[in-house]
Amino acid sequence: MKNSLKIWVEKHELDVTPSREEVVKVHNVAKKMVKRCEDAIKETSAKARVILGGSYAHGTWLPGKGDVDIFLALDKSIGKEGLPKIGLKIASIALSGYDVIMRYAEHPYLESFVDGIRVNIVPCLESKPGEWVSAADRSPHHTEYLVSRLNDDMKLHVRLLKKFLQAQGLYGAEIKVRGFSGYVCEVLIVKYGDIFRVVEEASRWKPSSVISVEPYNLKVEGFAILDPVDTRRNLARAISVEKLTEFIFLCRIVREGTKCDPFTSPLLQPASFEEIRPLLDKVVVLYFKHNERKEDTLWGELYKSSKKLVYHLEKDGFSVLNYSVSADNVHAAVAFLTPGEVKLNLLRRVGPEVYREKETFEFIDDKRNLGWFFSDEMRSRRIEARKLCSVEDALAEYMEKPVESVGFSKGLASEASKTWKLLKGREIERSKDEVIRQVVRNIFGYSRIFDQCG
Ligand code: CTP
Repeated sequence: MKNSLKIWVEKHELDVTPSREEVVKVHNVAKKMVKRCEDAIKETSAKARVILGGSYAHGTWLPGKGDVDIFLALDKSIGKEGLPKIGLKIASIALSGYDVIMRYAEHPYLESFVDGIRVNIVPCLESKPGEWVSAADRSPHHTEYLVSRLNDDMKLHVRLLKKFLQAQGLYGAEIKVRGFSGYVCEVLIVKYGDIFRVVEEASRWKPSSVISVEPYNLKVEGFAILDPVDTRRNLARAISVEKLTEFIFLCRIVREGTKCDPFTSPLLQPASFEEIRPLLDKVVVLYFKHNERKEDTLWGELYKSSKKLVYHLEKDGFSVLNYSVSADNVHAAVAFLTPGEVKLNLLRRVGPEVYREKETFEFIDDKRNLGWFFSDEMRSRRIEARKLCSVEDALAEYMEKPVESVGFSKGLASEASKTWKLLKGREIERSKDEVIRQVVRNIFGYSRIFDQCG
């Protein structure tokens, strides 16, 4: 039986709300760390203000996800150059005695766990709206804006929206996901009021829709969700078009009522291994080791490298119906779905323009030339036997020198070129490696039947 979104929401109102105990625990850490930051500012005699930000300050965090984001707004005169040095000094004094990890966004910040709660201390510059110098400078303004706009009911609906997106694999701005950030959820609730209207409206979003809470006076090209504190900034740019499209589609399903609980079960189920087994001989998997690296870096490099491989395969005459990537801490894999057993034996190479005498003679004289003719562009062309007859041949050739041949990312290339192997059909079927199974499941996307529960 299908249930309306209202029924599902009633079921989850309580479990998206952090318990009293958890709230007290996170509050205590926040209070302690604000005090430590203020003391550290005094100690360094810097001119700075401590501001709580992110989902903690907005009251929009999900149970078990209470992070404390602290922004150190330094005097603007410090400038972008002085920001990391002074900001990190204050942050490290504030975190002394705790294990600290240096993280990087546009500039570095510090992360630590205090009494089991993740704390981020992010330096930024005190800026007037629109006069930002670093990307983090907007954050305190986001907090000011959201605190004045979100009432308790709206906060609940931000949390519901986050939980829905999480269950559907669409939550998170990190490169691996390229989905909806917490801030985008907050802005959507400010715009539409509750999750019901978000679903209703998003189900009708068009490629030209511009979602803006505040008036804006710039011409906007294409789909946009404008940042209310800076309407020149399009928050949707960080969301991949695929994830955005999936969200619109899912909102249509949820609008009509679902059998599955949209807050806990993915409505689109991946194709099962049973369904895809007969098609495995159309898949080639490139599997390699990588040096452990930051997740954002790894996924950025993987996406870039796989895109380049596909571009070159297509340039070399092979069609790729779909491709996907997957990785764990040690291995990465790229899968390519081909139309079937494709053997390409000949290729046509375009030669120089005929007025280039020497080059034209050389082109014709080449040993590989099996026959040649002139084209309507006043060039010679020749037919030759291919060296790369299949997708596997081509990938093997590219992986000899992956950076030079296809522009594979440098960070992945050295390990990949030493460890790569190709898997097909039965080898894929026999493999128990989750990276391989995942990449192959991804390539077939979703099962034709969706919203199937119980
Ligand atoms: N931020 C932003 N643009 C984004 C994502 C984040 O400007 N696309 C800024 C916002 O000021 C936001 C802050 O970074 O309030 C913290 O965001 P983040 O740590 O990504 O997540 P939260 O909003 O705290 O959400 P949660 O922890 O619940 O996932």
